[in-house]
Amino acid sequence: MPGRGLILGIETSCDETAAAIVERGARTVSSVVASQIATHARYGGVVPELASREHLRAIVPVVRAALQQAGVTLADLDAIAVTSGPGLAGALLVGITYAKALAFANQLPVIAVNHLEGHIHAVLLNERESPAQALTGGAPGLDSETWDSTTPGIDPALALVVSGGHTHLYLAQPSHGTWRYTLIGRTVDDAAGEAYDKVAKLLGLGYPGGPWIDALARFGNPHAVPFTFAQIKTKAHLGGKPARTKAAKTAPIARLDPHLLFSFSGIKTAVLRYVELHGMRAEARARVSRVLANFRPPQTREAALALCSQPTLDLIASFQHAVVGDLMKKTFAAAESLGAYRILITGGVAANHELRERFNEEAARRGLHIAFPTLALSTDNAAMIAAAAWPRFLAREFAPANLSADASLTLA
Ligand code: KG4
Ligand code: ZN
Repeated sequence: MPGRGLILGIETSCDETAAAIVERGARTVSSVVASQIATHARYGGVVPELASREHLRAIVPVVRAALQQAGVTLADLDAIAVTSGPGLAGALLVGITYAKALAFANQLPVIAVNHLEGHIHAVLLNERESPAQALTGGAPGLDSETWDSTTPGIDPALALVVSGGHTHLYLAQPSHGTWRYTLIGRTVDDAAGEAYDKVAKLLGLGYPGGPWIDALARFGNPHAVPFTFAQIKTKAHLGGKPARTKAAKTAPIARLDPHLLFSFSGIKTAVLRYVELHGMRAEARARVSRVLANFRPPQTREAALALCSQPTLDLIASFQHAVVGDLMKKTFAAAESLGAYRILITGGVAANHELRERFNEEAARRGLHIAFPTLALSTDNAAMIAAAAWPRFLAREFAPANLSADASLTLA
């Protein structure tokens, strides 16, 4: 059985090299994230080969920093948890290989964690760290001493994982000491974060696009451009055609309620058409070098107007308003059809201000409980990986010695 219950988490699935120490899945002792944004920004997206190289460079100092900040050594650990997929194969392999080597040298078990499960556990970790905010269905407050995944009163939750690689709805249920997930809805093409990144790129904004659009949308009219989302017909996707995008490959579409399917590739094309039709191309091109030089999204109206014309700000606000509206429509429809009264929103896009505000308002109106991770835990990090590993540690679910990367790993 565990000593202090310390798990070292390692996350290298995309463009963040992260390590964290979490105690008993309930208390973050340290969390270190080395971002590769500066490396990929000039290409307007993640370059897989560069990502692997940067992970190789960062993994040793990042793990060392996590141990140092926690004031522990490898001898104090009970296990090492590592993201095994989904993600970039080469990037995942750096984390997996290093986790296995460390574990072998220190006679520790390795726990493989699905990145999507990690995002869901980012919210659960927050709730355990701030029990007052958690809805425990009448159970006593949870703390790091008493919590384990079988604690009665932890209710099933509808989880929306919305990030650069995923837009998936799951029903998450505690079950026999661990968690079970059922896929409820998903994107049939691009993820919401991917749409943010692509729209930002075509408007000459920085990478990743989410924080830029989030910051600029505050200064535009969200009703200026009426973007709409068509109802998705599943037939085309059931016709035996292979999935077209990386997001669509990570889970099946068949048998899902078409009302709970997302599609974000159309709005990207609609924004592109709008830009061309309204002669906004030159303005976008001129912005690229200024954005690269500034690096930080504008925070005031004055700074926003110095970078973008008012019609561009209106377009940005309208894009975001439409995306958030679509995410809300399908998430609340899923909650209603499942009878779920607890909703978890997680992943990089969950850091979005308008998204948080509008989801909170709608949940309050419907009398539903809604929870988000802190901003730091919304985007990729390793604390969520170490937290997700805790129930698996208790269940002695350890990875085999031949654990490898699974770029298209599914959760359900
Ligand atoms: O979870 P994450 O760090 O990595 C993946 O697993 O994909 O999510 C990254 C995504 C990017 O697409 C980024 O543009 C988006 O999250 N993002 C945001 C915000 N911050 C990050 N999207 C909207 N608003 C934000 N504030
Ligand atoms: Zn992620």
